[in-house]
Amino acid sequence: MKQVFLPKKILVTGGAGFIGSCFIRHMLNTHPSLFIVNLDKLTYAGNQTNLNDFAKDKRYQFVQGDIVDKALVLSLLNQYEIDCIVHFAAESHVDRSISGPESFVITNVLGTFSLLEASREYWLNNKGWDENQCRFHHISTDEVYGTLSPIDPAFSEKTAYAPNSPYSASKAGSDHLVRAYFHTYGLPVTTSNCSNNYGPYQHTEKFIPTVIRSCVESKPIPVYGDGSNIRDWLYVYDHCEAIDLILREGKIGEVYNIGGDSELNNLELTKLICEQYDILFKPNQPSAGLINFVKDRPGHDWRYAINHEKITKDLSWKPKTHLQEGLLQTIKFYCARH
Ligand SMILES: NC(=O)c1ccc[n+]([C@@H]2O[C@H](COP(=O)([O-])OP(=O)(O)OC[C@H]3O[C@@H](n4cnc5c(N)ncnc54)[C@H](O)[C@@H]3O)[C@@H](O)[C@H]2O)c1
Repeated sequence: MKQVFLPKKILVTGGAGFIGSCFIRHMLNTHPSLFIVNLDKLTYAGNQTNLNDFAKDKRYQFVQGDIVDKALVLSLLNQYEIDCIVHFAAESHVDRSISGPESFVITNVLGTFSLLEASREYWLNNKGWDENQCRFHHISTDEVYGTLSPIDPAFSEKTAYAPNSPYSASKAGSDHLVRAYFHTYGLPVTTSNCSNNYGPYQHTEKFIPTVIRSCVESKPIPVYGDGSNIRDWLYVYDHCEAIDLILREGKIGEVYNIGGDSELNNLELTKLICEQYDILFKPNQPSAGLINFVKDRPGHDWRYAINHEKITKDLSWKPKTHLQEGLLQTIKFYCARH
């Protein structure tokens, strides 16, 4: 019979960011008896108002702090008797990792190390819990696998790591530490590597919010190089459902790739957003005329694609939201906030 883990008290790291805030919303809405502590440093990328809808909810506690601070993490595990960590906190913007890589190594590598050490000490040494009583889920990215040519098969869990940016290298480092804590200490971990997320609450510096903002303000839409770089796009709440499922039914020590089945190049994506935006707001003024090609980023990976057969076969998950529908929801969200 399949073992099911039911977390009671989760420590979410980076829950004031894009995916973490959507994950907390998803979990509190679908699991009424769950308690969540959100540990977030509130860097430029964190926004506490992302979770205003839960600010007064007794099932939710926000703590401002740094994941690198092991003593703080340990005290939270103790104080709230946390039985599950879902680790989103990271420096996550590739361009920033090129201009200033140090914070990426500190948060993504040392921060993950400190969380692993604190969980090992609290769960394994102090409590003596086994894999049915606690869980550490690590959120990683498809970027650790490097780049693909047009004819390469999509990344699977068996694809060798080949990170090309300081961001993806620091995420790869954290993935290896998580794996090592399972093999060396028996810490009950799972990891997921997902493709590009899109949806509400993403920081406005990222690509899709930037395109939408440019449409609203009728300003040039910056597209790197010739727009031919290909990405797979995953609707954020589909991603959250996948993480929820891995927590409950995922096999300890396993890695799951999560993709959106929506591979297209940046120019195609930009045109699609413009089309959807025009249908809603500007029927007579095609926004695609605002597209402006800008100098490419150094070492820009050409193509990412995710093979999600494993999670589909083992846990019966697949993406539900069609790209066009997800983009429409996303455009409405940003326009309402603008
Ligand atoms: N957004 C994507 O498309 C995508 C794709 C694949 C993987 N991921 C991964 O998903 C995770 C979440 O991504 P996101 O887009 O939501 O990121 P984000 O940048 O929107 O949010 C990151 C959050 O972490 C917090 N944080 C940063 N450093 C911290 C520290 N030292 N201590 C505590 N909190 C800290 C920030 O304040 C912010 O709230 C990251 O691990 C990222 O690598 C993201």
